[in-house]
Amino acid sequence: MMKALVLCGGRGTRLRPLTYTLPKQLIPVANRPIVHYVMDHLAAAGIRDVGVIVAPETREQIENALATNPWGFALTYVLQPQPMGLAHALVVAREFIGSDPFVMYLGDNLLGSGLQPLMDLFSRERADAVVLLKEVSDPRHFGVAVLDGEGRLTRLVEKPADPPSRLALVGVYIFSPAIHKAVQEIEPSWRGELEITDAIQRLLDRGNRVLGERLQTWWLDCGKKDDLLEANRVVLDDWIRRDIRGTVDEESRIVGRVVLEEGTRVERSEIRGPTVIGAGTIVQDAFVGPYTSIGQRCTISHAALEHSVALDGVRVEAVERLEDSVLGRNAVVRRHGGDQRALRLLIGDDAEVLL
Ligand code: DAU
Repeated sequence: MMKALVLCGGRGTRLRPLTYTLPKQLIPVANRPIVHYVMDHLAAAGIRDVGVIVAPETREQIENALATNPWGFALTYVLQPQPMGLAHALVVAREFIGSDPFVMYLGDNLLGSGLQPLMDLFSRERADAVVLLKEVSDPRHFGVAVLDGEGRLTRLVEKPADPPSRLALVGVYIFSPAIHKAVQEIEPSWRGELEITDAIQRLLDRGNRVLGERLQTWWLDCGKKDDLLEANRVVLDDWIRRDIRGTVDEESRIVGRVVLEEGTRVERSEIRGPTVIGAGTIVQDAFVGPYTSIGQRCTISHAALEHSVALDGVRVEAVERLEDSVLGRNAVVRRHGGDQRALRLLIGDDAEVLL
């Protein structure tokens, strides 16, 4: 039986400051943690047995986020004491994986389509590894694959300074048990990690069958603020259906594909889809959307908010216009009553204020 291993360990450095308090796999896109979309894809592919790699720092939050388990998975948490690389995750999960083939899915990767084409290729070709590939503009930040004239995979390199192609490795792989031996045979890379890319190259060197499949839809690796806003935009565009479960007064207008979760209150405001607003949030005398996700228990009052992501507990008050913004949990943006030319800030580590 095909199993799955979802990687939710590591340390999130790129989406600081959000990742100081939230593992990056739990950063919400259209108000759902990224890892929930991963689980949706695994469930749709018929996978039941799922291992989740967690770090000591992320364990509790990841387990809480998956606790309701609407997918009905048999879930096994596997602790990786240190983020020693993607191939190292396979070493610690060796007992869970046993001698089964498995999907390895990076918990911070968001894909526009499911696993079926990759699973079909794996079983049809009796492969030892299949990898998913996507052309990117700057391959230096990824694992990179080289194909020969017949589309066969010939070489893989991790984050090359001088990329031999523009085909990046998407964070989704399927392996036969042959990968375990390859992992045993590699050495840590220059960044001190056991790289899965090197283990797959090792399979190629040993003459094992390794195949690549091009991803036909979008792929978002939510590394930076603009990537997160882009992921939010694409997911809202593709997957949101109108669903109004909150209360809306007569002076408000809800236009297009808008989700208002339970207990939201909209008064004297306009909400433009695609937009999602989380449970218990209050919107008063405001203009929200399009392409905006607001978490739970937020207050948006006398303000306009567009193309932005606000996490739980955010307050935006008396702000004429906010756009392309990401607001972390419980952040407050409020115009004060005093001298309007003076700014008054309490800013956390790595925050960014563009004036
Ligand atoms: O996103 C695709 C890229 O992912 C591939 O193109 C690269 O070949 C692959 O090495 C990987 O690169 P990143 O540098 O982006 O990997 P990152 O360190 O961000 O880790 C990816 C996921 O795996 C993330 O959810 C954290 C988790 N992780 C990471 C490490 C290093 C673990 O669970 N354990 C670890 O030891």
